Amino acid sequence: MRELSGKVAVVTGAASGIGRALALRFAAEGMTLMLADVDHGGLAETAAMAADVEIRPGTAGRGGVLTQITDVSDSWAVRHLADRCFGELGAVHVLCNNAGVFQGGHLWTREEKDLDWLLGVNLWGVLHGIHAFVPRMIEQDTEGHIVNTVSVAGLFVAPGSGGYSVSKFAALAASLALAQDLSATGSRLRVSALCPGAVDTRIGESDRSRPPGLVTTPTPDELESRERIGRAAGRGLDPAEVADLVVTGIREERFLLLTDQKYAARLRLQTEALLTGNLPDLR
Ligand SMILES: NC(=O)c1ccc[n+]([C@@H]2O[C@H](COP(=O)([O-])OP(=O)(O)OC[C@H]3O[C@@H](n4cnc5c(N)ncnc54)[C@H](O)[C@@H]3O)[C@@H](O)[C@H]2O)c1
Repeated sequence: MRELSGKVAVVTGAASGIGRALALRFAAEGMTLMLADVDHGGLAETAAMAADVEIRPGTAGRGGVLTQITDVSDSWAVRHLADRCFGELGAVHVLCNNAGVFQGGHLWTREEKDLDWLLGVNLWGVLHGIHAFVPRMIEQDTEGHIVNTVSVAGLFVAPGSGGYSVSKFAALAASLALAQDLSATGSRLRVSALCPGAVDTRIGESDRSRPPGLVTTPTPDELESRERIGRAAGRGLDPAEVADLVVTGIREERFLLLTDQKYAARLRLQTEALLTGNLPDLR
């Protein structure tokens, strides 16, 4: 989809980090936004920033900004979000299933509730987005693009973050399945799997949005992993660079969006190791 101006974008996880950067970038393109998150204050801040953003030269004009408190792990909430988008905005052209949370630790130390939370947000969030939006995006019969925020953790398993990688590998599988099946049915919708490395966001503080019913007791391996991800994020890319990559990916209809080509080399190394029956050593 070359032309974004005047179109409608939905972004989940829009109260912070990559989601906020996507919202600001789309606003600058003159898109109308529906922003969703569980964080009421952060969402209002993003909406105010988006309403004030400098519009890029050549765009037709500023679009509107709507917000909706939405827990993406709740199918009813995501369906309600979609109902509002199609009801009030008439169409959806770009859907970013971006909300996500990090939880580290060894698979054998973590509780079932940890995996429920990770899979609920990182996998079911994407699947609920697909179920609630894609049938109506197909029906509206316009160009459209679905961007699922995965991670390099959906390509490689980093030490001490098995649960996160399980959720992100599954989110990548969902993205591939969606892209292949849409293409096979001749759809005008395209799909991207955004796989960033470290990005300077609040991902290391994900526990702030954990529902009270899914709180667990941290273990030393979990705490160590959380600190490591927090440090890596602090040295990571500016989220605005990731938003630029997404806009280019939408315009050029690219499926896999990597923030650094070193991940392509690592993917080759991993495949070679696996094909020789060995465990990949990607340190
Ligand atoms: N920051 C990184 O280094 C990095 C790297 C690769 C992938 N990612 C992915 O990027 C995406 C965005 O994360 P971020 O780095 O911007 O982190 P962030 O913590 O800054 O933002 C995540 C947002 O998701 C929201 N959220 C959490 N649970 C939610 C739920 N149940 N429903 C709706 N919203 C919810 C949070 O309130 C927050 O606003 C995630 O999918 C994450 O896994 C991040």
